[in-house]
Amino acid sequence: MAEIELSPETAKVLEIKPLTTDLLPAAVELDRLCLGGMWTLNGYEREHTSPNSDLLAISVPNPNGPHLVGIGCLWAILEEAHITLIAVHPQYQGQGFGQALLYHLLHRARLRQLEWATLEVRTTNQPAISLYQKFGFQEVGRRRRYYADTGEDALILWRSGLHQPEFPLTLAAWEQEISSRLQASGWLFISQ
Ligand SMILES: CC(C)(COP(=O)(O)OP(=O)(O)OC[C@H]1O[C@@H](n2cnc3c(N)ncnc32)[C@H](O)[C@@H]1OP(=O)(O)O)[C@@H](O)C(=O)NCCC(=O)NCCS
Repeated sequence: MAEIELSPETAKVLEIKPLTTDLLPAAVELDRLCLGGMWTLNGYEREHTSPNSDLLAISVPNPNGPHLVGIGCLWAILEEAHITLIAVHPQYQGQGFGQALLYHLLHRARLRQLEWATLEVRTTNQPAISLYQKFGFQEVGRRRRYYADTGEDALILWRSGLHQPEFPLTLAAWEQEISSRLQASGWLFISQ
């Protein structure tokens, strides 16, 4: 993916909302860059249209069209939110975008009345493991040699309690923390 160059007047506005069709090719590129090519264009199209998926995008508005800087997706399976991917463009990592994506996925899981969230993560992916732990995910198991490319194990992480009456308060506290962090970095955050 080419280096992202932003015009100064729009550089600090961020939008988070369901991925729109115009950004599907950019999602494939971002996936290739951050996740080694997990899904093809067909895969993203399928998620985009599936009523059981929430496919979210963080983008930066720009005169030539929005720049996609982050993607996150969940599958709703019975009472479970299966988080299938989260990725932030390397130029934008470390500023709170990953947290913002995870927050919005869990918020949507709550709106869907799901009860828990789960995901797999490489045992060596410390940035992602730390991110999930911040949101209360706990290790509940391991899938041996889950990743075909390296033969690495996957940790199975689990976050329960999404349907509990106190969870909206937790969500509100996370939202406050994430907005403050983004604002401190000069980002104006718009969500839908
Ligand atoms: C994992 C990923 C999405 C995090 O995105 P990000 O925007 O950099 O994350 P944030 O800035 O929101 O950081 C949130 C938390 O994640 C953890 N984290 C992020 N980067 C980290 C790093 N380099 N080392 C350790 N922890 C890190 C920290 O807990 C951090 O909270 P803190 O800043 O208060 O310490 C990003 O690194 C990424 O896209 N990686 C490649 C794709 C990937 O591995 N996805 C996960 C697949 S399961």
